[in-house]
Amino acid sequence: VCRLVVLISGRGSNMQAIVNTVRDHALPAQICAVIANKAEAGGLAWARDRGLPVHAVAHRDYANRVEFDTALANVIDIHQPDYVLLAGFMRVLTPSFVERFNGRLINIHPSLLPAFPGLHTHQQALAMGVQWHGCTVHFVTPVLDHGPIIAQGIVPVIADDTPETLAGRVLQVEHKVYSNVVRWLAEGRISLNSMQRVQVQGIASRSFVL
Ligand code: GAR
Repeated sequence: VCRLVVLISGRGSNMQAIVNTVRDHALPAQICAVIANKAEAGGLAWARDRGLPVHAVAHRDYANRVEFDTALANVIDIHQPDYVLLAGFMRVLTPSFVERFNGRLINIHPSLLPAFPGLHTHQQALAMGVQWHGCTVHFVTPVLDHGPIIAQGIVPVIADDTPETLAGRVLQVEHKVYSNVVRWLAEGRISLNSMQRVQVQGIASRSFVL
């Protein structure tokens, strides 16, 4: 089975979609742990209630990013994961952490990268007037929100959208995209090659529409 560790910072709806898809489709995968950088992250309680191993590694308890990332990596390593899935994990990771998990670290970002890296992506999209928006699942590299793209999902922008209404629509396609990526990982269909390119086997399309 494919061993997965999921990192969250808040409500964890993407984590929940991942947990549910592994169970509903009996994927050859196991959620070994859910880890949050805040003890009060809502998703942590949800995972604990379902009997999943959970850890809080509170970034506030560490003096700097290097110390936090070292503690985080040590907790992750207990579970020997094949993949570490960032699902609404809102801490920037140090290059040494990213390199340690090279090819095994995956993130979901709420925009069609390379458009709108960083924060407030829905506000950025509305300000730019784009008519399509969406999400990207990608391998993590040391450059923030710039790693090789695994899959993307699109949604229309609608008149009178606010950042909140648009975020809600994007979130629905996020769950669809991340669930499918987890299925591909579990089935061993996706990898990052030595040229840092995404290699796929037997996947016709990596694009999704809400
Ligand atoms: C999601 O929209 C995710 O794409 C975004 O945070 C939200 C978390 O929601 N991630 C980032 O902005 C990463 N920089 P969730 O906790 O319900 O999955």
